[in-house]
Amino acid sequence: MSEAKKYLININGEWTGGDLDTKNVVNPANQEVIGTVPNGGAKETELAIQAAHEAFYDWSRLTAYERAKYLKKFHQLMLDNQEELAKMMTLEMGKPIEESRGEVVYAASFVEWFAEEGKRIYGSVTPTHASDKRLQVWKKPVGVVGAITPWNFPAAMLTRKMAPALAVGCTVIMKPSGDSPLTAVKMMELFEEAGFPKGVVNLLTGSSSEIAETMMKNEKVSKITFTGSTEVGKLLIRQSADKVKKLSLELGGHAPFIVLEDANVDQAVKGLIASKFRNSGQTCICANRVYVHEKIYDEFTDKFAKEVEKLKVGNGINDDVKIGPLINKDGYEKVKRHVDDALDKGAEAVTGAKPYENDTDGFFYTPTVLKNIDPSMVIMQEETFGPVAPIQKISSDEEGIKYANDTPYGLAAYVYTDNVARGTKFIEQLNFGIVGWNNGAPSAAQVPFGGMKESGLGREGGHEGIEAFVESQYVAIGME
Ligand code: SIN
Repeated sequence: MSEAKKYLININGEWTGGDLDTKNVVNPANQEVIGTVPNGGAKETELAIQAAHEAFYDWSRLTAYERAKYLKKFHQLMLDNQEELAKMMTLEMGKPIEESRGEVVYAASFVEWFAEEGKRIYGSVTPTHASDKRLQVWKKPVGVVGAITPWNFPAAMLTRKMAPALAVGCTVIMKPSGDSPLTAVKMMELFEEAGFPKGVVNLLTGSSSEIAETMMKNEKVSKITFTGSTEVGKLLIRQSADKVKKLSLELGGHAPFIVLEDANVDQAVKGLIASKFRNSGQTCICANRVYVHEKIYDEFTDKFAKEVEKLKVGNGINDDVKIGPLINKDGYEKVKRHVDDALDKGAEAVTGAKPYENDTDGFFYTPTVLKNIDPSMVIMQEETFGPVAPIQKISSDEEGIKYANDTPYGLAAYVYTDNVARGTKFIEQLNFGIVGWNNGAPSAAQVPFGGMKESGLGREGGHEGIEAFVESQYVAIGME
């Protein structure tokens, strides 16, 4: 058997880390080791910080137009390398290849949009209260940024953070998840090919806790932007206190998906398939709990289950597969625990509710629809991150809103109704950063993505996503 390819990290434009211990990157569809990455730690992080710090002066003094040219070149390279990036993504984290191709385009869209938006960071001149003074607000890049990303969207979570940071003149250290770092390695090669100056973009792999802690303690790092669990987000908030480090956090979700009796049932079924089974259910904004009005409960559940049964499970590298493996054993055990708990408490399996038998050692779970659901079930209280849709009956709008909001999370929610007044009332009352009204796929580069309550701090994407990387500097100018 040939030895797995040894990938490297990149600090100050140099590929390095060949002398470090390594971590295996495993294909979750069959447990094959597809490569190794260096186990970087505090020492490598300090070097990357120094490189990013030294590169900041020149990079931040380029014009936004000059920085946009680098980003646009990188954007084009991502699209030119779509197939290679997509294959790498599917191999390292199991996403169906069609979705991986889509993620590359989605990831690239942030680069294009923020390259342009960097040109629209306006300061201001404010009417003065004193004739011997002029008042201005300048906008300045925050400085060196640490971008820590999860395994489920290996390309898009990086570009959603890095593109706005780079566009306004920040320099970046990217730290992808240890479960899916190879897409980031390929992206680092493309940053090089696009000609980004040394140190502007750096890539670390290794111990997330050691790397994050080192960045937190170093005053040359101005901001950490993180996507991941609420638990880790809370830890980062605590660690950020000592140096008052700026944070953007995109954390866990537990999205309600509400279907009212006047909804277009076919449209709602389509929306739920798109939302629930994206990335095999491993998406922060995936519908996690479904509430359907009693008048259409049976019709909706039957139609939905029929569509779910058509979803082909398997190794995502095959073009016809719609549901890939879960990322690892822990992810699989959690899905199983949620389903078993619901069944123990009286839920009924309409379809699925069992592991998907395979002979490749992948952690596959059969796409599942559960009915007779009640709020006491764990699946209605915790994020499942898997291909399971529990459907609870509701009898009024008030009940739907109450159940939907009854969670510490506030990332995404969905509501299906063809009545404008009802839909508006839901939007007014749903405490979620993102609402899909008759829409199960709300994400886009030009809109703010992020959560209320324990789902995060700040927004990524859209103009808010670039404001997160600049600081306002108020200037009072004395006049004769
Ligand atoms: C996520 O899982 O948070 C990313 C989903 C998206 O950007 O649509």
